[in-house]
Amino acid sequence: MDQVDLGRFVHLTKHKYRKQLKELKRLVREDAFRVDESTKVSDKSVYKYWTQRKSIFSVFGGKPLYLTRELWFSITPEAVARFTAQFIRSCLPQATTVLDVFCGGGGNLIQFAMFFPTVYGVDFSMEHLYCAYRNAKAYDVEDRIWLKYGDWNRLARKGRFEKLGVDCVFASPPWGGPNYLKRAVFDVETQLEPLGLREMLKGFLRVSSNVAMFLPRNSNLSQISQITRELLGEGAKCKVLYVKIGPYLKGILCLWGEPFYDYQCAAVDEEVPAPKEELDY
Ligand SMILES: C[S@@+](CC[C@H](N)C(=O)[O-])C[C@H]1O[C@@H](n2cnc3c(N)ncnc32)[C@H](O)[C@@H]1O
Repeated sequence: MDQVDLGRFVHLTKHKYRKQLKELKRLVREDAFRVDESTKVSDKSVYKYWTQRKSIFSVFGGKPLYLTRELWFSITPEAVARFTAQFIRSCLPQATTVLDVFCGGGGNLIQFAMFFPTVYGVDFSMEHLYCAYRNAKAYDVEDRIWLKYGDWNRLARKGRFEKLGVDCVFASPPWGGPNYLKRAVFDVETQLEPLGLREMLKGFLRVSSNVAMFLPRNSNLSQISQITRELLGEGAKCKVLYVKIGPYLKGILCLWGEPFYDYQCAAVDEEVPAPKEELDY
């Protein structure tokens, strides 16, 4: 197929995925969701994100990028994704394989691929997987990624990924839209999608003992610590990092796994300029 290596889309040529394959072919043919400097953004709610497009993907302008409307709001900004990948790399220097469970348009996936040779991305939106592939191409890392179409709940129930030797599971699950800030405290059991933290974490720990999740800044930390003890035992810990761009707190990075606990200080390779206005993700 023109410009797309189907081999990167795990199992997609199997008969049971014929609908998804057809959709992918259509998206490629139409060059769907392409955004470049000449794109007119008429949707007011997207315009705010458009003005800060370089903080989403620094290669914007030089290369076309691919974003659905939902991705404009939900993609992880590059500086946050880069910090996350670098931090995990520093804690797991021997690691080769990362699984990004809700990979969306590839914000995190691409940065993981900069630091790890094999990165699996899962998403139940074919449009998002297509965008992730296109965006990974813009960063020349498409030969390090493997994209799996599917609902994580089903894949987890079937024990997929459990025997693949994944060194770290990463997840940036949906936070339920911008309303996540409306309540003072974000309930990680009832507000996270598609499952509460307990069930989600249980599934991730079956794949790897090292797990990282990007969660809202107002997440209930007592809930997180209680769930950690329930699943991993009384003395168990969850390391929480507050991730900022300039003065703006973008979210918290929660880490479970021995290699993360004693790591004192992550090296960030560059000072990232803060956006003029805060964007809610
Ligand atoms: C917050 S976005 C992830 C953004 C991503 N880290 C990035 O930088 O582009 C969440 C993604 O999870 C996907 N998703 C939601 N529920 C899912 C499920 N049950 N199984 C697989 N993917 C799911 C959505 O389609 C969306 O792309």
